[in-house]
Amino acid sequence: MKIDSCLFSPFALRNLTLENRLVVSPMCQYSADDGCASSWHTIHIGSMLSSGAGLFVIEATAVERRGRITPQCLGLWSDENAAALKSVLAAVRQYSAVPVGVQLSHAGRKASTHRPFIGKGPLKHSEGAWPVMGPSAIPFAEGWPVPQSMSLEDMRVVIDAYVSATKRADEIGIDLIELHAAHGYLLSAFLSPLANDRRDAYGGSLENRMRFPLEVFDAVRGAWPEGKPMGVRCNGTDWHPDGIQVEDAVAFARALRDRGCDYIDVSSGGNCYAKVPVGPSYQVPFAEQIRKQSGLSTMAVGMITEPCQAEEILSTGKADLIGIGRAMLNNPHWPWRAAETLGGQVGVPWQYYRAATRNGVPPPYVVN
Ligand SMILES: Cc1cc2nc3c(=O)[nH]c(=O)nc-3n(C[C@H](O)[C@H](O)[C@H](O)COP(=O)(O)O)c2cc1C
Repeated sequence: MKIDSCLFSPFALRNLTLENRLVVSPMCQYSADDGCASSWHTIHIGSMLSSGAGLFVIEATAVERRGRITPQCLGLWSDENAAALKSVLAAVRQYSAVPVGVQLSHAGRKASTHRPFIGKGPLKHSEGAWPVMGPSAIPFAEGWPVPQSMSLEDMRVVIDAYVSATKRADEIGIDLIELHAAHGYLLSAFLSPLANDRRDAYGGSLENRMRFPLEVFDAVRGAWPEGKPMGVRCNGTDWHPDGIQVEDAVAFARALRDRGCDYIDVSSGGNCYAKVPVGPSYQVPFAEQIRKQSGLSTMAVGMITEPCQAEEILSTGKADLIGIGRAMLNNPHWPWRAAETLGGQVGVPWQYYRAATRNGVPPPYVVN
């Protein structure tokens, strides 16, 4: 069948070819036990892998225990963490060949917090709070812990943790790594003048603020097999006049491109409390500008909820990939509907086959 839809056209990232441009955006599930994946992950990842999306990216996964956002966040800092995730992947991969990425993360000064909807803000000492660290001793906001300003030795330890997590990800068969350098977590904090007022080679100019995130990128890329792709999620803006601006993100993307980054996933915010003009496609202009001015492939994300909206973003050259978050949780078969609307084909488990051929649309192919 001839497919005209951009959304349902394949996309190559090194040795990995995605069946379509739909990516399940990383979403914390707050369901891990000391960083180990639980049965919920089997349910969640299983559901997302049978959704028809071309790529699933596992939630922010801490490279160090102290780098978790919440006590319930997933990790890859230990062999136990890797074994738990490996067994989840073994279960879900019996039924799906969709590639699986992982978002490697360190929460920095925004670690040690409550799960959303369960509590608010940072944990108290009595709730098991742990010390946090960041580029500078600047708290995220009033009432948040003052982070320890990282020494060069602290930075080396964190880089080693990224490398160990990368090797574990490879050993358990992960297909792609995305570095989390957005939303005010550690790498994002280094990039942002709102969180970084260092006077050494890691603060001040943009070149200096990019140094640590780029060192992490180089170390991870060096430990990750040549044929496997690697991307970075960054902020297109901090939504603050003194924070990261899109021009900074363009410069970061250029530096990443020169180092062999395969795509940049463009999000925003999280380095401060800010008024964000949330609305349909509100972050897409940043993805577009970064793509045009850096030449790096971009993933657009944020309030992309309609198939034609996604198609327009791709067909007008604003991005190469579409990240979908909440709409996938709301309807885990969102890609089926998109395929119906746009005339594409998606993978469907044979068990669900009879439900996937509504409206006289040609039957999608069967995964298993
Ligand atoms: C429950 C939930 C958890 C999230 N966890 C992460 C995460 O682990 N890493 C990340 O970069 N973004 C995370 N996000 C942000 C999403 O990946 C996405 O960028 C955001 O929800 C905007 O896309 P959407 O409008 O399609 O939901 C999370 C969002 C939600 C709703």
